[in-house]
Amino acid sequence: MKVGVIGSGAMGTGIAQVAAMASCVVVVYDNNLSALDKSKASLDATFAKLEGKGKLPDAKAVMARLSFTNSLSGLADCALVIEAIVEHLEVKKQLFASLEAQVGEGCILATNTSSLSVTAIAAACVKPERVLGLHFFNPPPLMALVEVVPAIQTSPEVAKLANQIMMDWGKTPVIAKDTPGFIVNRVARPFYGEALRIYEEGIADIATIDWAMTTFGGYRMGPFTLMDYIGHDVNYVVTETVFTSFFFDPRYKPSFSQKRLLEAGWLGRKSGKGFYDYSSPEPQKTAIEDAALGLEIVDRINAMLINEAVDALYLKVATAADLELAMTKGVNYPQGLLALADSWGVARVLTVLDELYRKYGEDRYRASALLRRAASEGATILN
Ligand code: NAI
Repeated sequence: MKVGVIGSGAMGTGIAQVAAMASCVVVVYDNNLSALDKSKASLDATFAKLEGKGKLPDAKAVMARLSFTNSLSGLADCALVIEAIVEHLEVKKQLFASLEAQVGEGCILATNTSSLSVTAIAAACVKPERVLGLHFFNPPPLMALVEVVPAIQTSPEVAKLANQIMMDWGKTPVIAKDTPGFIVNRVARPFYGEALRIYEEGIADIATIDWAMTTFGGYRMGPFTLMDYIGHDVNYVVTETVFTSFFFDPRYKPSFSQKRLLEAGWLGRKSGKGFYDYSSPEPQKTAIEDAALGLEIVDRINAMLINEAVDALYLKVATAADLELAMTKGVNYPQGLLALADSWGVARVLTVLDELYRKYGEDRYRASALLRRAASEGATILN
């Protein structure tokens, strides 16, 4: 199968690697020659390293399946093209319109957008039924999850075929409705947002919240460590985009503490400073290790995460099974949030949320109708 990858940056290079390692012939297109050179050099080095470790029998053979071009016509006979250029709707629409003139009738056109409407991108094409979202996670070769996002115009056959191709590439595809943040970037919002809120209220400091979430929540990283790791330029912008795209639903409201870090250029680990200071080898983190406080923090953030997942299920953003897969494979949560709801008992989750709602009187804390219904019926979320 011949695959085109458009954009040879971080994501495009990773996607090209995945496709080439899955035996596809891959053409990488970028309008910037130095980006193409960098991508080629990086893939060369990656394959050589994998061969050295005994994880790839023949690096040269894989590299021989890849070619690099700065002309769109190079993508002419591809069966699938995946776009991973700059996150800008008008630029993507323009590209899709020109791309469609170059490829054959049967070619599937996919976008790796993380925050734009796939439907809006598809609308730029004469045959929007062949367009869908294939949202990989960073870095694509290591992250198994791919969110398959049919636009409202996408034909079921195209979605099914793309899903099968992802499985053939060894990925774990989940189907997400074309709604802001798809699954992961929507459901994970409270992990950051509620932690920031607790911090801003002065209930606990960042080190204590991180300690609580790793110690009692079982998360690999606390929210502040993770935000510093992702970078505030990325994490804040995702939050703001999701908030705006949801017509300013207060559940997704961004935080000023994080916005200020971004404005100061304190982007996290990559800039040497974020919530923590990375100028010394081991950033100073002194948590107040109070178990009662820690459990209260975890209950509050987990209740908000569960609510988000249950509401996504209620609004048919994805199936229960795909919601669970997405959060465990996409962001490595210790368990699916719907399973967590059932292990807590939905009544207890509802009590935590209703208590927050009573305390603050903010719509942010409204419980999902599905959670309320399950609690009143004594039902579980998963069957
Ligand atoms: P990047 O900035 O590393 O790479 C973008 C590449 O696209 C550059 O090489 C640039 O020269 C090229 N490009 C820009 N405009 C172009 C055009 N009109 N025609 C051809 N090439 C063009 O960006 P990155 O991080 O790889 O992201 C790409 C896409 O993937 C974005 O839509 C982003 O939202 C999405 N994404 C990013 C993730 C991440 O963690 N970085 C995760 C999942 C999705």
